[in-house]
Amino acid sequence: MTYQFPKNFMWGTATASHQVEGGNVYNDIWLMEHTPGTVFVESSGDAVDHYHRYADDIALLAGLGFNMYRFSLEWSRIEPEEGEFNLSELEHYRRMLAACHEYGITPMVTYHHFSSPRWLMRHGGWSGDKTPELFARFCERSARYLGDLTGAACTLNEINIATLFSVLNMFRPENAEAQPEQPPAWMVAAARSLNVTPQQFAPFMFAAGPKAIEIVQKAHRRGVEAIKSGPGAYPVGVTLALMDIQAGPGGEEIAARVRYDVNESYLEAARGDDFVGVQTYSRFRFGPKGMLPPEWEVTQMGYEFFPEALEATIRLAARVAGVPVIVTENGVAGDDDARRLEFIQRAVKSVASCLEDGVDVRGYTYWSAFDNFEWMQGYQMKFGLIGVDRATQARSVKPSARWLGALAKSGILP
Ligand code: GCO
Repeated sequence: MTYQFPKNFMWGTATASHQVEGGNVYNDIWLMEHTPGTVFVESSGDAVDHYHRYADDIALLAGLGFNMYRFSLEWSRIEPEEGEFNLSELEHYRRMLAACHEYGITPMVTYHHFSSPRWLMRHGGWSGDKTPELFARFCERSARYLGDLTGAACTLNEINIATLFSVLNMFRPENAEAQPEQPPAWMVAAARSLNVTPQQFAPFMFAAGPKAIEIVQKAHRRGVEAIKSGPGAYPVGVTLALMDIQAGPGGEEIAARVRYDVNESYLEAARGDDFVGVQTYSRFRFGPKGMLPPEWEVTQMGYEFFPEALEATIRLAARVAGVPVIVTENGVAGDDDARRLEFIQRAVKSVASCLEDGVDVRGYTYWSAFDNFEWMQGYQMKFGLIGVDRATQARSVKPSARWLGALAKSGILP
């Protein structure tokens, strides 16, 4: 038995500016990496030098068989000071788009993938009233410059990430009695270094609560309008971190609540978009008292090895958002590439089963193209299809990359 994927199915890999470019010294993440006492285990440093090596990297991905590449713009490069746009950086991203076209790859551009310019904190970061407008201005300027070469766009990456983190925290058994959290000392210090209050210091990943939810959703809406005001006609959407939320015995009520707050309420907000980006890594299970511990083998991230989570989240997204789905991230962190291969094989089988049932899935994107900077956890997490020796920046293609690339080329799943 084989399964034939649709002809124009998008097969991609993804990266994010701060995780691969190197030297992103003007953003809030770099600041947090370098604040004493920080939760970031190391500096992103030169990352995998994708900023300079993008052409070879894109050629490598195309050679493997991929027809789509999802990457993000670094806002802090394009607008390093509020209102000052840097043409040479827009030109850099234009060259990246051109390289994609040269190699027959559809570029999917993410306008914001977690990192923000430091100056945004003066406006209260992702809890600030002016942020949607400031984000929209950045989108408008960038789309005007890049739109004619863009294949698809995501406004913001995982607008539910802070909600996911805070809900998970709240439901961890050890936190059952805990009081609402004060910002940790290192965050207070990071805020001070920018001459803003701890309340104003609201980086995207950590901006939880009703105000941030409202601001981030507004920013998405304003971003869509701004991107669409530019040249080109391509689908624009948002991506969501969609863990498969399951109920263990007696956990139905909590699971339903978490599923609504973290997944469904955001999927409702994606109604009317051109697509919704599904990003799934595993499942979380809830019992009557909160989150249940993993039952199975866990990955480097501590997630259960459960590729079929993707099938549940694709179906949920299609049902609730009612728009086409693109899997914009799916992957596993581990040193054993044979396990990665199995993960991918089972995940794409899940995608095929959704397609067979008539669910409108337009693409599958593996996270990530390269072993890269996994935020707080640094470089120890190995998500990549392609390994990188960071001393020499030499790339090494893993067998899983060849397998998925071959599937991308043939569209036939054995
Ligand atoms: C996210 C981001 C990526 C991560 C990936 C692995 O989902 O957190 O989009 O930047 O690196 O998900 O955790």
